[in-house]
Amino acid sequence: MTTLAMDQAWGLSNLFSAFHSSGNDDVRPLSAGAGHSLPAAPPRRCRAIAVAGGKGGVGKSTVAVNLGMSLAMAGREVALLDADLGLANLDVLLGLQPSRHIGHLLDGSCSLGELMLPAPHGLKVIPAGSGARRLAQLDTREHAAVIRAFDELPDPPEFLIVDTAAGVADNVVMFAAAADDVVLVVCDEPASLTDAYALTKVLSRDFCVRRFHVVANMVRHAGEARQLYEKLARVCDRFLDVALDFMGAVPYDEHLRQAIRRQGAVVDLWPASRSARGFKQMAGAVDTWGEPLRTGRDRIAFFGGQVAMAPDPVREGGVR
Ligand SMILES: Nc1ncnc2c1ncn2[C@@H]1O[C@H](COP(=O)(O)OP(=O)(O)O)[C@@H](O)[C@H]1O
Ligand SMILES: [Mg+2]
Repeated sequence: MTTLAMDQAWGLSNLFSAFHSSGNDDVRPLSAGAGHSLPAAPPRRCRAIAVAGGKGGVGKSTVAVNLGMSLAMAGREVALLDADLGLANLDVLLGLQPSRHIGHLLDGSCSLGELMLPAPHGLKVIPAGSGARRLAQLDTREHAAVIRAFDELPDPPEFLIVDTAAGVADNVVMFAAAADDVVLVVCDEPASLTDAYALTKVLSRDFCVRRFHVVANMVRHAGEARQLYEKLARVCDRFLDVALDFMGAVPYDEHLRQAIRRQGAVVDLWPASRSARGFKQMAGAVDTWGEPLRTGRDRIAFFGGQVAMAPDPVREGGVR
C-alpha cells in the first residue's frame, strides 16, 4: 500500500502547475526537411476514471459531476458517462434534457458521438436513461458493447469520468474495472466503509484492479477525512493486495445542496465555496497519478484499443 506520505507530497505548487498544464505533451518538429517523412503522431491517450463507492447516497454522482466540471473548467476535454443505467441522474444534476440514451446506442439507432450532450465549460455528458428496466438488466455482452463503443469515438476526450451505480453487481464492477483508475467515495457511515471494502475486494479479486483513490465526502473537518481513509486503508492493507491513496476531502456544504437544487455543479455556481475548493484540489491531483496500472490480458477496457494490456502478476501466479 502507498503510505500517507504519498498524498502529502502533492503540495500547492503541484496543484497549481497541474491546473495550468495544457495536458498536451505532443512535441512536433518545427519543420521537416525534404525527403524526411513526419513521424506518425502517437495515439492520443484518454484516461478513464470510474467514480464508485459501493453504497448509494455517499456522493458518487456529485463527485463525478464536480470532478469532471473542475477538469473542464481547467481547459481539459472531459466526457461524463452516466453508468447508473436505468436510474440515471447526471442529466438531472446538470439540468440537461436528453432525447436519447445508452439504450439507443445498444439498439443501433444512434452513435456514441450523437449521444453526447453539451454541458457548461465544454463538458460532454452521455446520459443513461432513467426508468428503463431493460437498461438496469443488461447482460455482460451488452455492458461490454457500451465500453467498446468508446474505441470507435472519432474525437476521444482527454478524460472520461464514469459515474457508477451502487452495489457490486455487473453493472458496477464491469464499468469500474474497465477504467484506468477507480475513485472510491466514502462518507462517515459504517455501511459506507463496509460497502467500499466489499467493492474493493470484488474489483481486486475478480478484475485485478490494484489501485484505488479514496475521496472522503461530507466531512466536517480534515481529521475526519483522514480517519475515514485510514480505517479503509487499514482493512484493505490487511486483507487485500491493493494500493489505496488519499485523493482528497469534500466538506459537507450547503452550497453543494443548493447547486443540486439549481441543477448545476457547485464548482461552476459557487467556485469559492468549501466543497468547490475540495473538488478543484482533487482535479489537480489527477495529473500526479502517473501511468495507469493496466493489468489483465482479457480485460475489457475503455479505449482499450490504445494500449496493450500487461499480464496481471497475481493471475499469472507471480505474487502470493
Ligand atoms: N459534500 C456534500 N455536502 C452536502 N451534501 C452532499 C455532499 N455530497 C453529497 N451530498 C448530498 O447527498 C446526496 C446524494 O449524493 P449523490 O451524489 O447523488 O450520491 P450517490 O451518487 O452516491 O448515490 C445529494 O443529493 C446531496 O444532497
Ligand atoms: Mg449516483
